[in-house]
Amino acid sequence: MCGIVGCIGKNHGREYIINGLKTLDYRGYDSAGIAFLKQDSISIYKDAGSVEHVNSLIPIGEDGDAIIGHTRWATHGKPNKSNSHPHISFDGEFVLVHNGIVERFAEHKASLLKQGVTFNSDTDSEVFVNMIALFYKEEKNVLKAIKKAMETVDGSYAIALIHKGENRLYVLKNVSPLLIGIGEDFNLVASDASPMIEYTNKFIELGDKEYGYIEKSNYKIFNFDGQEVSKKLISKDISLVRHDLNGYPHYMLKEIEEIPDVITRLVNHYYLDEKYNFDDELIKKIKQSDHIIFLGCGTSYHASLVGGRYFEEMLEIPTASYIASEWAFHPMFPGKKPFIVFISQSGETADLIHCLNIVKKYNYDTLLITNTSGSTLERGCKYSLNIQAGVEVSVASTKAYAAQVAMLLLLVAAVKGEAKIADEILRALPIIKSIKDKQNDIKNVANIIKDKQSIFYIGRGYDYYLSLEASLKLKEISYIHSEAIAGGELKHGPIALIENETPVIVFFTDNVTANSMRGNIEEVKSRGARVFVISTKELSKDGDTIIIDQYPNYLSSIIVSSVAFYLAYYTSLSKGYDVDKPRNLAKSVTVE
Ligand code: G6P
Repeated sequence: MCGIVGCIGKNHGREYIINGLKTLDYRGYDSAGIAFLKQDSISIYKDAGSVEHVNSLIPIGEDGDAIIGHTRWATHGKPNKSNSHPHISFDGEFVLVHNGIVERFAEHKASLLKQGVTFNSDTDSEVFVNMIALFYKEEKNVLKAIKKAMETVDGSYAIALIHKGENRLYVLKNVSPLLIGIGEDFNLVASDASPMIEYTNKFIELGDKEYGYIEKSNYKIFNFDGQEVSKKLISKDISLVRHDLNGYPHYMLKEIEEIPDVITRLVNHYYLDEKYNFDDELIKKIKQSDHIIFLGCGTSYHASLVGGRYFEEMLEIPTASYIASEWAFHPMFPGKKPFIVFISQSGETADLIHCLNIVKKYNYDTLLITNTSGSTLERGCKYSLNIQAGVEVSVASTKAYAAQVAMLLLLVAAVKGEAKIADEILRALPIIKSIKDKQNDIKNVANIIKDKQSIFYIGRGYDYYLSLEASLKLKEISYIHSEAIAGGELKHGPIALIENETPVIVFFTDNVTANSMRGNIEEVKSRGARVFVISTKELSKDGDTIIIDQYPNYLSSIIVSSVAFYLAYYTSLSKGYDVDKPRNLAKSVTVE
């Protein structure tokens, strides 16, 4: 988690840093901080709270030759001022911002304390800066001190570091992402391209265990052996990188309403001239496999459940979907020729990286379905498919979920060689768009449920998978306890929780399970539940809350998820919460 930015030689560098931190605060936002280096002096401003708050602490006119900034999601140590980055070394010579985790940091800290080093925070990051400062005393060379610290510390890190008296910004990286942006007489650094894209479209991606420095018009990168490496300049698709509210009050609303465009872009990318456009070898490998194993977390895990159903129903390949943080401690490889599919919007989720390291030992084929090219998981997987959703800023995932499901469907359609499916997806777009016109009905439900203690989502088949995602979305941003229950499981326990006026939201779009589901609706109604039914035209009855035009059943999660997303959005909004930045969460979870 955490976002870092840095610049050197940049006019109005402070502006870049402040805007950059705001752009990156989807990576964490419980505290922020900035350090300005001006020749021999370094000034640091940091505190718990927002980037805006920290900016208000910085005197007007403050600027630096080199500046580094950080937005934090606390791992080690509470979100308070002393734990906020940047951290300064015990001797006041070095200052760094860090994204990642220092493994066995307590041991390192104890050893540094013995050597007379003092600490001001509870963070693991302070270990890093102090270690570099200590090694510098021996080596008298910053690059050598950095290398030595990298040899000593295991863990993940993307670090930007400044050293008093040097007009340079040092960088080092392992696992956590770090990009350098090359400008005309200035250079930038950030956790991803989004803060830099306004100023340059020339980037260098640091590899694991690489380190180096940037100066105003120069940079040098070294590998772990200390040899200089020549790095390829890459560019990014600006439309996929830029963050912009475009007049919307929140990213979440904007991103929900982008779903039809995202799906169009996705289909047009993977289905060209009436032919599927996938790597032939990937399709062959899937056909040859006897089992598909899906690994994901949160929303991506929910997408994998839908994908599993596609593979089983349409290709008759058995699947197993696992929560990555569970599977990592109990790895299972069903079948003789399993094919492993990682699903991760960010491509940086630590639990999945853990799983990937396990899978690598077995040499099985791996595919990543992601929204982030160049990510750690992408580099580690044999195949990768990009869901083309563009940056998703809101912590609660919406368009990425719809795109992940659509991506899985297109992949299955390609393996099956069934053109009809891509056409069906495109035909469904007006139905997704029509959900926008049902917002008032959804707001009415939000106003009823907003003060409830507990809410249930029920469904069967595709509707059950959707219920899981709908329930997660609601709890993430409205902090209302909610549970998703498979219709058939109600009477095996959860129905005991239904009381007068308990809200039960029913997804009722699955033709196969319709009759049984009708029974479940009646069961909860007769126990006093306040039932809101979201149905398709074919299955609808008078009194249903939202009725959606008919579509092929398997598109349910792509289409009806918008109803779930709007409902979570309006519930959070009516409670006055920060929709895009829910408490305690972060978009990219780079810690296990
Ligand atoms: C976090 C996010 C979720 C996301 C999950 C998995 O919890 O808040 O929205 O679904 O991580 O992230 P990934 O990037 O692997 O899809």
